[in-house]
Amino acid sequence: MADSFQLDLPHRPRRLRRTASRRALVEETILRPADFIAPLFVVEGRAAPDPIKSMPGVFRLGIPDLVKECKALYRLGVPAVALFPKLDPKLKDEEGTQALNEEALVLRAVRAVKKAVPELTVITDVALDPYTSHGHDGVLTPAGDDVANDRTVGILARMAILQARAGVDLVAPSDMMDGRVGAIRRALDAAGHTDTGIMAYSAKFNSAYYGPFRDAVGSAQAAGTRLLSKATYQLNPANRREAISEALLDESEGADIVMVKPAGLYLDIIRDVREVTRKPVAAYQISGEYSQIHAAAQLGWLDLARCRHESLLAIKRAGADMILTYFAKDMAAALK
Ligand code: PBG
Repeated sequence: MADSFQLDLPHRPRRLRRTASRRALVEETILRPADFIAPLFVVEGRAAPDPIKSMPGVFRLGIPDLVKECKALYRLGVPAVALFPKLDPKLKDEEGTQALNEEALVLRAVRAVKKAVPELTVITDVALDPYTSHGHDGVLTPAGDDVANDRTVGILARMAILQARAGVDLVAPSDMMDGRVGAIRRALDAAGHTDTGIMAYSAKFNSAYYGPFRDAVGSAQAAGTRLLSKATYQLNPANRREAISEALLDESEGADIVMVKPAGLYLDIIRDVREVTRKPVAAYQISGEYSQIHAAAQLGWLDLARCRHESLLAIKRAGADMILTYFAKDMAAALK
């Protein structure tokens, strides 16, 4: 009786899910190694790779190991890396002065990578947090209770010129100061770097999920004195309209690529930004997004490879053209 029961259904969506080959035919979103940008942490010296406890499988690398890693990524089809320096705390000060040192660690790293793998796209962050003793992305006001916008932007513009001179393909302002994209574009052009692009961290939210990254670069705290809040410059996670207007502002100031960050918790924002701009959209799957998948996998609660794939697929499906992710190398290897 049950077997002979048949619904009169013109549409049976399951038909196209019936076999692996039918499913392949109708697959809408496909990840490929060229979708990924690998964030990499650089340290001084030639010591062995230094594991970051809260980010399993991620290491702080000296320049020789960094170059090796970049070659391996390029061979796997990953087209770009984003470099983040971890400074010796003794080199940090209130003003982040090491950011303007022509021999700064990250600039030496850029030159070494560009020399070894010239075709690899190299991206560097423009922000002061790796350099300031308080860990903020800019310099503070005289009262010390906020980041001074315009003075910070002046420093960032000079920082971007040094990075362009070292050979980066894209500078990536991650500071969220007002007017920095325009100021950086003008400064780069005035210095003749018309071919250096800007990947703007446009909709960067004040996220609790940056925690493991701040361990990695040591920007977590003002030596126990001030509690670090970036709420006066990073976006309120509650705000969607404001995120869209930030992306449009950065585009109008000359951003070549606009970014949404974090990614997985902000898929609606990725979709919104995708719909309002014709520029490429990047999304940053941040440290906490990576760490939570690893942590659950270590407990045996989630399947690492499948969650990794699904988390990135969702970000691409939402509308990201490229994804910064600590999974870049593993994903590229898995997709090969
Ligand atoms: C700061 C910066 C941050 C990240 C990249 N650049 C964190 C912050 O704003 O404190 C976070 C990346 C991550 O969590 O993976 N300029």
